[in-house]
Amino acid sequence: MQTPDIIIAVDGGASTGKSTFARSLAAELGFLYLDSGAIYRCVTHFALQRKLIDSSGAVSPELENVLGELDFSFSPEGHACIDGKSVERSIRSLKVSSRVSVISALPYVRRFVDEILHRLGSCGRLVMDGRDIGTTVFPNAELKIFVTASEQVRAKRRYDEMLSKGETPTMEEVLANLRERDYIDSHRATSPLRKADDAFVLDNSDLTVREEIIWTLGLIRGKFGIL
Ligand code: CDP
Repeated sequence: MQTPDIIIAVDGGASTGKSTFARSLAAELGFLYLDSGAIYRCVTHFALQRKLIDSSGAVSPELENVLGELDFSFSPEGHACIDGKSVERSIRSLKVSSRVSVISALPYVRRFVDEILHRLGSCGRLVMDGRDIGTTVFPNAELKIFVTASEQVRAKRRYDEMLSKGETPTMEEVLANLRERDYIDSHRATSPLRKADDAFVLDNSDLTVREEIIWTLGLIRGKFGIL
């Protein structure tokens, strides 16, 4: 399919399978894929390493002064890196997941990440996933998809993913983290998680990734009048 040079914004709540879907869609179209959540996770990892989050979860205002020292990049394979080294494993841990929503609610963190996202996404032909891509980061994206899935499906997916990576959370911990993140993400003052008015909703509870791609290709054909 000859796809026009568009930006595709994929948003949705925690563990709705956005990343798997967005990565596959980008591969199908020959587009760049950018995982904005990975950058918020890196900021959180960085703040934990610098001991700027205390045991109660309070974030030191010092984070704003040192954020410029965070050397973030994506490797050619798409791994999130700090100082050129992959931190993929650490940033997906429950420790980071349990702090990331508080960190990503901070306006100066959002400004820092938005700048990186705009720089990386400046060439178009891009699929970017997150919480506020269609509403704030790329409000003019030509195609916006808002992904949802039932809570049970989401918790099971995240639980299986964590087990496969050697973590041993309980299902209750995973579920509690998803609920807490969705609550904080959708109630924060700056760029809360919400569906853009012009986004298409994709409930993937009972869909395979291939079925999601076929649905999206149909959407692209219809919207852009191709094939
Ligand atoms: O993959 P998962 O759904 O667990 O989350 P993620 O995409 O890795 O994002 C982790 C966290 O980063 C979210 O819970 C949000 O707090 C934050 N985030 C955000 O605020 N804005 C974005 N565009 C992307 C992520």
